[in-house]
Amino acid sequence: MPLLPALNPPLADWRGRRAWIVGASTGIGRAVAALLHERGAQVTVSARDEAALAAFAAAHPGARALRVDVTDAARMREAWDEVAREGTPDLVLYCAGYYKPTQALAFDLAEMLRHDAVNYGGALHLLDACLPALVREGRGHLSLVSSVAGYRGLPRSLGYGPTKAALSNLAQALYLDLHPRGIGISLVSPGFVATPLTAQNEFRMPALITPEEAAQAMLDGWARGLFELHFPRRFTWVMKALSLLPFRLYQRLVRSATGNA
Ligand SMILES: NC(=O)c1ccc[n+]([C@@H]2O[C@H](COP(=O)([O-])OP(=O)(O)OC[C@H]3O[C@@H](n4cnc5c(N)ncnc54)[C@H](OP(=O)(O)O)[C@@H]3O)[C@@H](O)[C@H]2O)c1
Repeated sequence: MPLLPALNPPLADWRGRRAWIVGASTGIGRAVAALLHERGAQVTVSARDEAALAAFAAAHPGARALRVDVTDAARMREAWDEVAREGTPDLVLYCAGYYKPTQALAFDLAEMLRHDAVNYGGALHLLDACLPALVREGRGHLSLVSSVAGYRGLPRSLGYGPTKAALSNLAQALYLDLHPRGIGISLVSPGFVATPLTAQNEFRMPALITPEEAAQAMLDGWARGLFELHFPRRFTWVMKALSLLPFRLYQRLVRSATGNA
């Protein structure tokens, strides 16, 4: 029996429930969609890669593929209308993401804005599309996939980190506004997960987990009604502890751990 009340209405039994996963053609989003489908949910998968979405739908009877580019606000609204035609989904998961290692010494405005458009702007487009119905009905659960890279500034993360910090802050503000209206809001803060997004990393990724392990951790978190789903905990607790340190000490530890002289 938990000591404290759950922050969200627990989502444990997925049979007959509906989920819309945005950013589900590969990686974590695809693994979550597969696990939800296995648990009995009716899933709609979205991203840009139509072939990958169609392959998912073909392999998962009852699943639906819906192409979206999250940077296109009008298309996001259209896609929401298609998803909501059968009723407001029980879960809307924003899992689209973009990451390229970026540094101040090779500042690239286009790359900076690309991170912002996909990681943060896309989430705003999703909110614009789905919030009116969620608020009207006073139900549903919205989950945003951010990152521990949003906790504090990190090397090679000039473009990515700030967008994830914004997304995490957004999730907290959404919770304050929408929890009293009966809407579930959760923030997902993964550590390193082996996906196409991290395949480009040339450094050894500590506590690396599979997309399937990430998906399991997310379902466990939703079932417990958590607000922040962070995993693997052996890594994310360290990142949380680091984020509490005075900056003088933080920057020294990060430099020595990453070789960022
Ligand atoms: N892997 C990690 O270690 C890690 C750690 C922390 C947080 N995360 C976050 O987890 C989320 C999923 O990442 P992942 O690791 O699973 O990477 P991934 O396999 O590269 O998945 C990214 C997903 O986002 C979609 N996407 C990208 N741009 C899009 C756009 N403009 N419109 C629609 N969909 C778009 C991609 O599909 P299309 O290319 O088909 O559009 C893909 O489905 C991201 O938000 C990422 O920042 C990952």
